Amino acid sequence: MMPDPSQPRIQASTVIRNIGQLITVAQQPLPEASGPLQVILDAALAVHGGKIVWIGHDDDAEPLFQHDATAPKDGITIVDAQRAVVTPGLVDSHTHLVFAGDRAEEFHLRRAGVSYGELLAQGRGILTTMKATRGTDTETLTELAQSRLNTMRTYGTTTVEVKTGYGLDVITEETCLRIINNLNALEATPTYSHDRVRVVPTFLGAHTVPPEYREQRGAYIDLVVEIMLPSFVGLARFCDVFCEREAFTLEESRRILTHAKELGYLLKIHADQLSPSGGAKLAAELGAISADHLDYASDADLDAMYEVGVVATLLPGCSYTLRSPYPSARRFIDRGLHVALATDFNPGTSYCENMQMMLELAMSSMGMSLEEALAAATINGARALALQNEIGSIEVGKRCELAFWSISDYHEIGYHFGVNLIQSVLVK
Ligand code: NIG
Ligand code: FE
Repeated sequence: MMPDPSQPRIQASTVIRNIGQLITVAQQPLPEASGPLQVILDAALAVHGGKIVWIGHDDDAEPLFQHDATAPKDGITIVDAQRAVVTPGLVDSHTHLVFAGDRAEEFHLRRAGVSYGELLAQGRGILTTMKATRGTDTETLTELAQSRLNTMRTYGTTTVEVKTGYGLDVITEETCLRIINNLNALEATPTYSHDRVRVVPTFLGAHTVPPEYREQRGAYIDLVVEIMLPSFVGLARFCDVFCEREAFTLEESRRILTHAKELGYLLKIHADQLSPSGGAKLAAELGAISADHLDYASDADLDAMYEVGVVATLLPGCSYTLRSPYPSARRFIDRGLHVALATDFNPGTSYCENMQMMLELAMSSMGMSLEEALAAATINGARALALQNEIGSIEVGKRCELAFWSISDYHEIGYHFGVNLIQSVLVK
């Protein structure tokens, strides 16, 4: 078909054609799409300046942009999706990616009956990883983080939140924050694929009290509040606190997060993971962007979160690793909360980079439908990072961050499990 001269041509640098199923997860209904995930069959999309400028049926793309579906024309790059399923790139909104060492030994001790809390109380757990991290140079920490990020990408993730929390002193926390910030730049080096992953930094100095402050925990909190938080403004988008019996009390968490908010950090909380700590309620009180874990959050806490729009981030990798009951996602979804799924990638409670695994666990053990799980791993992950206006769905005006799946029907997700269904990701 020749271009219709009466129709204005849309400026595009790339047109992705021949998409079998485009799972847009659009938040505004699209005329061509159907179902809760707003799926378009036989689709195409166009990109300009890194942003999506057009979405529609492949047949309609031809007169708009080019004539020959196989060859570049007018400087437009044509990508043939070969009938793939295309979704938004997966958003992993909760990870602890920067650390050295591993805790395989402790994993097997826990299997033999020692609890996570007991290990932490013995100076192991997070502190084992703190020691290994403090003892590792910046270059090695960067390489470790880079390689994990690369694994995440091969499983479909295009945006990753990364927390500090294994330094627990001013120098190492700052080093880890700088490593996290540098990951974006390093991603573009030729060593790795040209496709980048967006990294969102979070300061988690209040992960646990380090051994040198064991007898004077108030002084460590002073250090976090008076020195670390003000010095790290601009290096972290979020401040997070592990509000838990073995870590920081509700009052300590309130002090740290209140000060962080005054300094302009957005807030996250590890809330009610191992016991009812009050973290979910605090998240509502302070207007946190997300409260994460929530295994022991009460109905009243969840209602309070709903009132102010706190995202509930569920982390099934922890239930898998700690062999604790999986929280039912229905409790959260049925009261209207936005639920995000994330890996919580860390060496203690979830040593897994793979977001597909989280989709599988959410569907098999948390009562989520495929549609709910996919929304939780895309648009709601974006909400958990306060980036929902930029990423997390395939809509005109959003960034082009896509996952190409090597399946012909998205209903295979969760059904065909334990294998990598991702072919590639594309981040423009
Ligand atoms: O999200 N609970 C606190 N932080 C991590 C665990 C970190 C670790 O054990 O190293 C979590 O589960
Ligand atoms: Fe965590």
